[in-house]
Amino acid sequence: MPRSPPNFSRMDRSADNGLAATLRPARREDREKLWTLDQACFDAQLAYTRDELEAYLDSPGAFALVLETEAGSPAAFVLASVGRRGQGHIVTLDVLPAFRRRGWGRRLLLAAEQRLRAAGCREVRLEAAVNNAAALALYGRLGYRVRRVLRGYYHGGLDALSLAKLFSGGHGGP
Ligand SMILES: CC(C)(COP(=O)(O)OP(=O)(O)OC[C@H]1O[C@@H](n2cnc3c(N)ncnc32)[C@H](O)[C@@H]1OP(=O)(O)O)[C@@H](O)C(=O)NCCC(=O)NCCS
Repeated sequence: MPRSPPNFSRMDRSADNGLAATLRPARREDREKLWTLDQACFDAQLAYTRDELEAYLDSPGAFALVLETEAGSPAAFVLASVGRRGQGHIVTLDVLPAFRRRGWGRRLLLAAEQRLRAAGCREVRLEAAVNNAAALALYGRLGYRVRRVLRGYYHGGLDALSLAKLFSGGHGGP
């Protein structure tokens, strides 16, 4: 089904397959909801503990963006961080199952990339489990390339792929 190109230039409301979604920065009071969301998106072995998620959210350079439904409840989020030497990192990207394949993951990822670029990053990196077909398809379509295999990266020994995307052009552009 054809989709309208998302609007990355503002944090606003937009219609998405009949469901209004608002993109906004995460607030402190969202934290419990973000953890619940992460639990719903990942197997127990891969999901973050509350402490892990808190630590990422509080780490230097970290930011999170959420997409919330008309009811005002976050249904998806991206957590990213601005690192040193011009390198950004996507820590996690979570879309509740009921809201998948509506372009929300893409929209969040591109919004995070835009913020990383604006913060001076020249590259963004992330990790995905080798068996995460949905995530790998999304990242591939958005220009991420495999750097290397990370053997036994996850609890339980599951391998990950390290992926990277180089930003071209100046800072701040889409
Ligand atoms: C991966 C994830 C974030 C994708 O979110 P989403 O909102 O469903 O993705 P989008 O609708 O923006 O998809 C964009 C494109 O990615 C690809 N894609 C997404 N999900 C896919 C799937 N299940 N199978 C194949 N391709 C898929 C498609 O090319 C899709 O475009 P299309 O719908 O026009 O074909 C979501 O499945 C999720 O939260 N999974 C669990 C958590 C997770 O694995 N996060 C990534 C951690 S590395």
